[in-house]
Parts: sequence; C-alpha cells; structure tokens
Amino acid sequence: MKVLFERNVACTMRDGVTLRANLFRPEEGDGYPVVLTRLPYGKDTSFAYLLLDPVRLAEAGYMVVIQDVRGCFASEGVYGGFYQEFDDGYDTVEWASKLPGSNGKVGMYGASYFGFTQWAAAVSGHPALTTVAPTVPLDDPWDGVTFRGGALEWGTMASWYLTALALPQLARLRGREPGFPLEFVQLVNDADRLSHEGYYQLPLSEFAPLRRTGLLPDFFEEMTSNTDVRHRNRLNIRPHYATMNVSASLTGGWYDVFLHPTLVSYESLKAAGKKVRLTLGPWTHGNQGSAVGDLDFGMAANSALLNLKEDPTLRHQRWFDEELKGVGRGLEAEPPVEIFVMGINRWRLASEWPLPNTEYRPWYLHSQGNASTRSGDGTLSEVPPTAEPADEYVYNPADPVKTLGGNVLMTAAYPAGPKEQTETEMREDVLVFTSEPFAEPVEVTGPIVAKLWVQSSAKDTDFVVRLTDVHPDGSSYNLADGIVRMRHRQGQDSVAWMNPHEVYEILVDLWATSNVFLAGHRVRVQVTSSCFPRWNRNLNTGESNETTAEFITATQRVLHDSDHPSHLILPVVPLA
Ligand code: BEZ
Repeated sequence: MKVLFERNVACTMRDGVTLRANLFRPEEGDGYPVVLTRLPYGKDTSFAYLLLDPVRLAEAGYMVVIQDVRGCFASEGVYGGFYQEFDDGYDTVEWASKLPGSNGKVGMYGASYFGFTQWAAAVSGHPALTTVAPTVPLDDPWDGVTFRGGALEWGTMASWYLTALALPQLARLRGREPGFPLEFVQLVNDADRLSHEGYYQLPLSEFAPLRRTGLLPDFFEEMTSNTDVRHRNRLNIRPHYATMNVSASLTGGWYDVFLHPTLVSYESLKAAGKKVRLTLGPWTHGNQGSAVGDLDFGMAANSALLNLKEDPTLRHQRWFDEELKGVGRGLEAEPPVEIFVMGINRWRLASEWPLPNTEYRPWYLHSQGNASTRSGDGTLSEVPPTAEPADEYVYNPADPVKTLGGNVLMTAAYPAGPKEQTETEMREDVLVFTSEPFAEPVEVTGPIVAKLWVQSSAKDTDFVVRLTDVHPDGSSYNLADGIVRMRHRQGQDSVAWMNPHEVYEILVDLWATSNVFLAGHRVRVQVTSSCFPRWNRNLNTGESNETTAEFITATQRVLHDSDHPSHLILPVVPLA
C-alpha cells in the first residue's frame, strides 16, 4: 500500500488558534481509524518517531497524525503548560475523527508529556476517542513529577525545564530579537553547567536561567506546596479514571521517573472495570534497551525485540487492530500484565498487578548502634528486634549524598537505572542494613514500603530509604527508593513540624520493583537523609527549602527495638 505524507496539516481550536500536524495515510481508500499523538517536543524531531513508525502503521491501514501542541514548534498560540491539553485534546480528536478517509474512531499514543496529552483528551471525553496507549506517562504533574514524598523533584524539573522547555521557547519567543544569539548561548551554557553548578544554587528560586530569561517567572510559586490546591487539582487525572471511556495499553519501566503514575493508571482503570494492559521492562524514562545503568538485562529485555516477539510498532498495531478495527490479534488470550523480572532476566505474564499470591513480609532493621556504612554492624532479618540501641548520623546539607542511579530523569552526569552503590554506602551519613545470603532464589515483585521510627534535632528534615540487591562479590545495585519530607509527612498539602527528639513513625513509599534475589545474594536497605540533586536538599531550618539559603545540620536517629520495630515490607511471590 502506498502512503501519503502531508506536513503542517492545520486544525483550528475553539478559540481560533491553529495547531499543525504531520499526517501519514494510505494513498487510497477510506474507513481508516486515526492514530494520534500530541507532543510539545516537535513533530519534526526524532522524539516524534521513537515509539512507532508512522509509515508502517499507515501501510497497515491507519491515518497517523503527529501534532505540535499549542505554543510549540509549528503550532500557533502561547504555550500554557499542561492545562491547555484538555480542550485542545478534545478539539483535535473532534477534527481527527472527521478527516476525510477516517472511520470516525481515534486512538492515541505517546510517551511522558505526550502520555499526559492522552489522559487529558480522555478526560475531556470526546466519544470518538476509543483507546489510548501511553508509555511512561504522568497523570498528576504534582505527584512524582514535581514532588515526591513532599520533596521537590529538583533534578527532573531543572533539567526538563532547561532543555525541553526553555531552549525551544526562547527560540520561538525571542528568535528574531537582536539579543537572541547571546541569550541562547547563555542558556545552553546553563544547561551544560547544570550538573555541577546550577543544581547546587541556593536559594533555588534564584536559579539563574529562570531569573535571567524570565520565561517561567512563576515556576517556584507554581511548584511549591503553597499553590492553591483547587488550581493544582485541575491537572490531576486520577479522579477521572472511573468515568473515562477508553481502553488503555500502558508501558513503563522499573527505573522510570514516572513508574508510580504508570502503576496508578493501571490499578485505577482496572478497578473501574476498564480494559487495560500493562507492560513493564527494566527501563528508565528514555532507555528501553537491554543495557540499563550498570547492568545488562539481555536481548529479550530490549523493547525493540520485546520478549523476542515484537517491536514497539507491531505492539501498538496489534493493540489498535483490536481496539479500533475490531480485528482479533490474540491479545485476549494473553494475560494483561507482562513484566520483566530482573535477576533471572525473564518476562513474566500475570493476570493482575500486584501479582496474585503476593505475601507481604516484613524485614526488620537491626544493629548494635553502629550501622553507618556498609562496614558497620547493620543487619536485616525477618525476626523483629527486642532491645537494641538506635543508630545515629549527622545530615549536613552542605555535603548531601549524591544521586547515584534510580528512577531519575536528569543530566548525563546523573544516569538513571541500577548503579553500583559503593560511593553511597561508604558514607558515615548512610545507615546500611544487610541480610544473610539467600540459600535459594527469592522473588520480590510488587509495591514496597518502609515503616521507620525516627527522631531528629531539626523541626523539618528528610528520610530516604533505598532497597538494593547485593551480589556475592559485594557489589550492591539499587532497586527502588523513596523519600519523606517530614513537614509534609501527612500529605503534600499540610505542614506538620517535628518536635526535636520526639519519635515519629513514618511510611516511606519506595514504589515497586520486580527482582529475583538469586542464591548467594543479599537484601540491603540504606537509610539516609538526602539524594541530591534528584531531590532538593532539606535545609533543616523549617524555613522554605526553595526560597532560603541558610541551613543547619541535623542529628538523625533511626530506632529499631520492640516498641519501634523499623522494617521494610517486601512483596514475595512464588518464583516466576
Ligand atoms: C517528559 O515529557 O519527559 C517530561 C514531562 C514532564 C516533566 C518531566 C519530563
């Protein structure tokens, strides 16, 4: 089948603004479903073509529309952030469903921001939108995107703002002004210096690129928790899953910065009785290959060859064939959950997430009070503690624990994924608790949470917990982690100060993983108070961590005794 390509096809929104798209369609015939993606990163850039090949999909009988969102690249208007994607999503679906040759049914696809544009269109409720296929999507810009556990996702926000938003916006808004070349070079330099200078600037609100360019003057106003809750909730997709009228095929990664939103989407749609599938690889936000971080998970992990059966274009096509054309492609017969189990490096099919037969088992922290560093006396076991001294360390914001792998989306100096943890685990301000080696392999697949009893000399501070897999040679690779900013321990929208030295029970959400601890491997838990620059530093003063620069050290204690049995809850499942 021959394919026609048209660039800059215009679509007018309700307020008269024209958005432009690239269109790939079969040269002849009609009655084709439309497959749409709406992105802010440029319909003519490689971003637009990473997930599926529009030519192949058009050859398979689809009209593929790749549209620049409002205020970006070839589309008119002023970029107004995530808010604009609801009405514009509706109007674009309306237009797409009426394109000559279309059968009136629309499906959407795309990753991350253009995962959100799918949810926004689904919330807006156009009846032609039948199905979505979001990859690494976000569904609440304030949860796991700008904030995690009350801490600012500074690593992600600063690098995303600079490279993905500010540079193209500067070119668009000021590209014809005489000062533009200099401004552009300055911004590129800011991006280049972010890893070792920009991230470290205090107060954060004086972050030079924001101040100088004035492109997002309200950035910290918008980001800090003082923002009006009703305004923020306009962007939250979560209340709408039950009523949105679409099926969904979700793809995510164990080391993706938006792993949690992907799981929330799956669980919410499932609970609402929608048709939904979930694929999770050992991937980061931008790497769906087989080598991720320091580890190589093998060829079958690579999404280009997923489970040695299909590439992303074919995976999307099978889904759209079923949902938009009603052509059976065998998906009904395949369990809806397909996840990659690290350690044994194999895909596993399941009927639901979390997996059936999951046993949530507590693993308790132990020591004689000297658990600092991996050379300390911290241990981890399934036996609750009795009488044990607490562990103590000093957290100094001037010397935070550096981000080393994990679910990050930062500059190249801070790669995502599993990274060997020696540098972190040799620090005096990191408590390390390690189990005995397993005699038999043990599979841990599911959500992970830590319950800790803590004290601090400060009225506000942070606690960070990380789970690792320790190999027989002593190397330790991060699997999952999380943070609690104590002032927000009761929720992002409330502030509760600590009374210095009072004991607090906290829950740290480590999101999820899937890993077999092979025979001879050990489980390890790190407890510390920073992971910078991923999360902005808590300055320990109780003042704003965004608009002030003064800081003090905090003396932290982690208790583990019969009244305060600090532990991690591991989801143990029968071996895959
Ligand atoms: C993204 O599209 O990759 C993205 C969107 C929002 C925040 C960070 C990243």
